[in-house]
Amino acid sequence: KKERTLALIKPDVVTKIGDVIESIYSSNLIVTKAKMTRLSWSQAADFYMEHQSKPFFNNLVQFMSSGSVVAMEIMGDEATSVWRKLLGPTDSAAARKEAPQSIRAHFGTDGLKNVGHGSDSLDAAARELEFFFPSTIGHGPSNTA
Ligand code: CMP
Repeated sequence: KKERTLALIKPDVVTKIGDVIESIYSSNLIVTKAKMTRLSWSQAADFYMEHQSKPFFNNLVQFMSSGSVVAMEIMGDEATSVWRKLLGPTDSAAARKEAPQSIRAHFGTDGLKNVGHGSDSLDAAARELEFFFPSTIGHGPSNTA
């Protein structure tokens, strides 16, 4: 089934964006929206709200607001699971053992600095896409021409 999902490139690898996009296209997904931005502490905290009780939450928010990120809407067959599979296991060290071809195996540092984020469900994808690419229907000049 054709899906749209969020591929978020984290601050640790924003200079490797070309390699990441290459693997996205190699997996038959296409990039349909892209934006480079920098999250404030509170925007990063909002984005990762579901993890707010985790011991790593503060480090995560600090890291995610420490530099530029690239948010992309990617599209294709089973895009959500294909992208997560491309990324590999959350922990980059585990990725090097269990999925040596994965993006995190190649470019990740550890469990925190792990290259990218992928939505874990279609519902999450819709919510997370809206976070970075808010629909503007009914607002502003771009939709009133
Ligand atoms: P992500 O897929 O974006 O989802 C939540 C993020 O929290 C995860 O990638 C990592 O960046 C971070 N994370 C998850 N588990 C840990 C952990 N044990 N230690 C540090 N950071 C973690």
